Amino acid sequence: MLKTNSIEKQTPTAYPIYPLIEERWSPRVFSNKAISEQQVKTLLEAGRWAPSSSNQQPWRIIWGIKGTETYDRIFNCLHKFNKGWAGNAQVLWACAFKKDMQNGTKENFHALHDLGLFMGNVCMQATSMGIAVHQMAGIDFKAAQKEFNFPDNYHVATAAAFGYYGGNPHELDDELKKQELEKERSRNPQSEFAFNGNFQ
Ligand SMILES: Cc1cc2nc3c(=O)[nH]c(=O)nc-3n(C[C@H](O)[C@H](O)[C@H](O)COP(=O)(O)O)c2cc1C
Repeated sequence: MLKTNSIEKQTPTAYPIYPLIEERWSPRVFSNKAISEQQVKTLLEAGRWAPSSSNQQPWRIIWGIKGTETYDRIFNCLHKFNKGWAGNAQVLWACAFKKDMQNGTKENFHALHDLGLFMGNVCMQATSMGIAVHQMAGIDFKAAQKEFNFPDNYHVATAAAFGYYGGNPHELDDELKKQELEKERSRNPQSEFAFNGNFQ
C-alpha cells in the first residue's frame, strides 16, 4: 500500500506487477499540501518523454495551480459532476491533442493514443512523488477550446486533477464518499480482453 495514502486500497493483481502501477488510484480528495510549479514541470517532463507515433508529440496541456486564474478557468470548463470534487485538487490540467500531422496534410489517427501514453507517464511520475492524478472525460471540450484559444485542429480530450494523496474522504457527499472508501479495486479478468489467437 502507498505509504502516503490514508485510505486503504487493495489491488488484487493476478500476477505480480511493478509497485507504482499497483499503488496508483484516482482519489477525489487530496491533501492540502501545495504542488509547486517545479513539480508541475517535473510531471510535464515525464510526459514529454513518452513515445508517440512518428514522434509527433501531439499532446498539448493547459495547467493551473490552485489560487490562480488559469486553475479557475479550467475548473469552470468541467462538467457539473466533476465540479463537485475537483476543486479539492491543487493543480488542474486541460489535456488536448493536435488532430493532424505536423505538416497539416493528414489526420493523425494515433493522437489520442499518444495523449494517453503521455498521461500514463505522468501518472507513474506523479505516483512516485506521492501525487495522485484523477483524470476526467467530463470537461466541456467546446468551452475549453474557446476559453484557451485552441485552433480547430486541436481537441480538448480530458482534464486532470492533481494533489498529494491523503485527503479527508468525509468532505465528499455520501455517494462519492462510499466510492472513495471502497477497499477493493476491480478490473476485468485478462480472459475478457486478451486473446492468444482469434478475438472471442
Ligand atoms: C480518460 C479518463 C476519463 C475519466 N473521466 C472521469 C470523470 O469525468 N470523472 C471522474 O470522477 N472520474 C473519471 N475517470 C476516473 C476513472 O473512473 C477511474 O480511473 C477508474 O474508475 C479506475 O479507477 P482507478 O483510477 O482508481 O484505478 C476517468 C479516467 C480516465 C482515464
